[in-house]
Amino acid sequence: MTGLATADDTIRKEVARRRTFAIISHPDAGKTTLTEKLLLFGGAIHLAGAVKARKAARFATSDWMEIEKQRGISVTSSVMHFEYNGYRVNILDTPGHQDFSEDTYRTLTAADSAVMLIDCAKGVEAQTIKLFQVCRRRGIPIFTFINKLDREGRPPLDLLEEIERVLGIRSVPMNWPIGMGRSLRGVYDRMEKRVELYEEGERRGIRVIPVQGGDDPAIREVAGEALAEQLAQELELLDVAGDPFDHAKVLAGELTPVFFGSAINNFGVRTFLENFLRLAPPPGPRKSADGPVEPTDGKFSGYIFKIQANMNPQHRDRIAFLRICSGRFRRGMTVRHVRAGREIKLAQPQQFLAQEREIVEEAYPGDIVGLFDPGIFRLGDSLSEGRDVVFEELPTFSPELFAKLTMKNAMKHKQYQKGLAQLAEEGTVQVFRTAGPVEETILGVVGQLQFDVFEYRMKHEYGVELELTRIPYRFARWVAAEKVDPGLFRINSTLVRDKDGNPVALFENEYAMRTAMERMPDARFLETAP
Ligand code: G4P
Repeated sequence: MTGLATADDTIRKEVARRRTFAIISHPDAGKTTLTEKLLLFGGAIHLAGAVKARKAARFATSDWMEIEKQRGISVTSSVMHFEYNGYRVNILDTPGHQDFSEDTYRTLTAADSAVMLIDCAKGVEAQTIKLFQVCRRRGIPIFTFINKLDREGRPPLDLLEEIERVLGIRSVPMNWPIGMGRSLRGVYDRMEKRVELYEEGERRGIRVIPVQGGDDPAIREVAGEALAEQLAQELELLDVAGDPFDHAKVLAGELTPVFFGSAINNFGVRTFLENFLRLAPPPGPRKSADGPVEPTDGKFSGYIFKIQANMNPQHRDRIAFLRICSGRFRRGMTVRHVRAGREIKLAQPQQFLAQEREIVEEAYPGDIVGLFDPGIFRLGDSLSEGRDVVFEELPTFSPELFAKLTMKNAMKHKQYQKGLAQLAEEGTVQVFRTAGPVEETILGVVGQLQFDVFEYRMKHEYGVELELTRIPYRFARWVAAEKVDPGLFRINSTLVRDKDGNPVALFENEYAMRTAMERMPDARFLETAP
């Protein structure tokens, strides 16, 4: 066997054992808790509470001067990895609601699958819906974990019905609760035909009893007559009326396997993890301008999906997060920076453990590497070895909050222009300009935090004090038409231009948006830039 073949074999093996996913949920559903349990299984942390403590530190302060600290923390928690049963697992962090921003959406592009976490008392919540839709658009498989079974929640069948109705995805329960809240006795594993017994509190082992089926007398013994009867009936209903398990549909993102459990009690978590690792896909091909790039392609390639400013404002350097798409990454390797059209050396690549950073010697498709960025990277940049690969641009997202920007001190115009251009490039905010006689600058974001970060960084990194005045628009639509008459966007709407000069209509409400669409029947109103 030649040396080359061996290297290819290694890449193939490494790709096959990788699982890179994001947990999507509404705040408080238990994402931190679940992440922590998974890291404990993988031995990446040894003490329960490590992830939690960091979250507490992050939210304990509302003092805005602390934002740098806060962002420093979110650097280290951006991606975590561990080994389990021969798998290499990468968990991408999608920040909670205070941190909700375009970054969150962009991070999802780096995931190969998603775990949707739902609180059994609350069901499908607002933020889950948004994040779900981004995953859906990419067609990645979505696994569901219904959490907090130790509390009184909604009937499991209701929850499934809601997932299907609100999110429009079919579901297949992999296990089924026996009781709930105070009466919780365990979960019945539909695939393995066994019962995982529930015991409150942190436990070392997991007690499992094998059974013949949902009506096994052993279930009666542990759960009592009434619960056993209910279980048998519900399982029968699922068998008759529910969707059968279909791995191809799961991989196509059309069917979500559903697991019930309680993260805090470490109940159902191992079963979930093991099934997830078995069923979730390894890194797949990625779209590029010249067609799909296979992960097992011998040559390295990847793209930047997130840029994080340094916590220390004295240093302008940043960390660029690279998702590896093909080949083998090696520390110190020279790669092509495709947009810049030159070779660069990747000297100090880092990866992030639960609590610390480490220098990476080598990495494979699916892995995320943090690159030291002296200001040479932009969001969506592709890096490749031996040839130019251009990965499909990162999508821009339709902003939902808008503010008018005014400078407090006109003398600082140069710094203002520079800061605005650089921060827009980093993806901190989207910038629009009005078309009227006096050009005004309007910022668009998907989360309030983006405004706060923008204002803070303009002040501390560029020395420019700004005033952001919220304006009541709620929707942005890129207008694709032969001719766009600004006169049509006067009432509860306005027409602006994006950074490339494309016309964008901003609307205060859906009614105004519908009216404009009716008046311009030949135009297309797009949620993102064409
Ligand atoms: P998040 O990252 O999604 O925002 O949620 P997080 O893990 O912080 O969990 C939110 C709250 O829900 C926490 O309670 C956590 O302990 C609790 N929780 C998580 N999983 C379960 C579960 O399986 N059952 C029950 N009953 N509760 C669960 P908290 O009171 O906000 O915090 P703490 O005082 O426990 O730290």
